[in-house]
Amino acid sequence: MKIEDVTSTTKAQRVAAHTHVKGLGLDEDGKAKQSAAGLVGQLNAREAAGLVVDLIKMKKLAGRAVLLAGPPGSGKTAIALAISHELGTKVPFCPMVGSEVYSSEVKKTEVLMENFRRAIGLRIKEVKEVYEGEVMELTPFEGDNPVGYAKAIQHVEVSLKTAKGVKKLKLDPTIYESIQKERVSVGDVIYIESNTGSVRRMGRCDVYATEFDLEAEEYVPLPKGDVHKKKEVVQDVTLHDLDVANARPQGGNDIVAMLGAMTKPKKTEITEKLRREIDKMVDRYIDQGIAELVPGVLFIDEIQMLDLECFTYLHRALESQISPIVVLASNRGTCEVRGTDGIQSPHGLPMDLLNRLLIIRTDPYNREETAQIIQIRADIEGAKLEEAGLEALTEIGVSSSLRYAVQLITPAKLHSRVSGLDALGPESVDTMRTLFLDARSSARILTEHSNAYMK
Ligand SMILES: Nc1ncnc2c1ncn2[C@@H]1O[C@H](COP(=O)(O)OP(=O)(O)OP(=O)(O)O)[C@@H](O)[C@H]1O
Ligand SMILES: [Mg+2]
Repeated sequence: MKIEDVTSTTKAQRVAAHTHVKGLGLDEDGKAKQSAAGLVGQLNAREAAGLVVDLIKMKKLAGRAVLLAGPPGSGKTAIALAISHELGTKVPFCPMVGSEVYSSEVKKTEVLMENFRRAIGLRIKEVKEVYEGEVMELTPFEGDNPVGYAKAIQHVEVSLKTAKGVKKLKLDPTIYESIQKERVSVGDVIYIESNTGSVRRMGRCDVYATEFDLEAEEYVPLPKGDVHKKKEVVQDVTLHDLDVANARPQGGNDIVAMLGAMTKPKKTEITEKLRREIDKMVDRYIDQGIAELVPGVLFIDEIQMLDLECFTYLHRALESQISPIVVLASNRGTCEVRGTDGIQSPHGLPMDLLNRLLIIRTDPYNREETAQIIQIRADIEGAKLEEAGLEALTEIGVSSSLRYAVQLITPAKLHSRVSGLDALGPESVDTMRTLFLDARSSARILTEHSNAYMK
């Protein structure tokens, strides 16, 4: 085998504000480590978030709401994303920002409703009758086409092999189409559902695993048992997936048709009536034990952007029978609730909603933690910091804001590179500081030169 000058295909990844956050960084007892998984300090909030994750996994928290409250830049959004990392891919996590509800085309409550349903998962377990095995033979038989001159496929013969034996199947031409779509060839392990005829390719049989040195193929063992058998198939979907898939109902309304419709993209309005239908069907499947509800997380950042109408709706949605866990974040102190005439309330949330929240507080960072966060960010943005450079950035982080300090890293890195330095020093930080102002200095300039600006 020879690998000739293979250029790396890893993408130059865009660095977003929270790329360094990989989880909550807790140990087995749920205690937060000082610095782990990209998160630094904020121990209480992280431990509380860890408990929330546990409760969500135990399904003990549905219909509850948690508020992350703290000053700007204290890591609320970062902790919420860490929660989503901890939950893994099986539990739905739907992030949104409060201001998303304002659209001229869609009603505010409609946006909220959609996101609520994105956060409720359904795990569907179905026992299906299938033919499963390694493909030993795949022969289409052609015959005369009654219309036109071209030959048409009359039937297909497929031999499937398992550890127990081989079975030859004669299949309908429509199944041949799905076999082609899945790119099945001899030596693959597949299963064919006997009542729908849909074909799934599971991978290549591991007998062939040494065929090539390097390839992008998944190998699966030769299936055990009979070729014709009952198999449990598990699928994770959200209620919103089901809504979208059924926005234009077509044929049968059992769960198979429902899932089949999901793969076809289309855009039609989802009506209240449709949602009720879906809910009814879901209820039925839950009663029959085919499906299981998986309440996920709806994360609404910048919650203070919502207005009274939305808050009322939120309240109602939380009371409903199937509801996800709602995590909110706000950086406001006591301020006016939007959409009221001047009602003041803590965090900008109405009192009745506040009363049913669990509140997790985030605190401002001390100097040491600020330095650690800046160091982590610098590493991820590929900037090499001189000790004095880190010192200068930390000073800015403490005296101005963490976010401002973090945002200066990349421009300062460019400046140091242009000046031919190999590490980022205090000069670059100072230059950038004069070029890009933070909110506070900008506000000071405005007041100092107030008569130079238009009123
Ligand atoms: N404990 C932490 N460990 C590591 N990075 C952090 C931590 N806290 C915050 N950060 C990083 O600092 C930046 C600001 O934090 P974040 O956006 O989470 O603040 P916030 O509390 O959501 O602020 P706002 O109220 O303005 O939305 C982000 O890049 C975030 O990833
Ligand atoms: Mg935030």
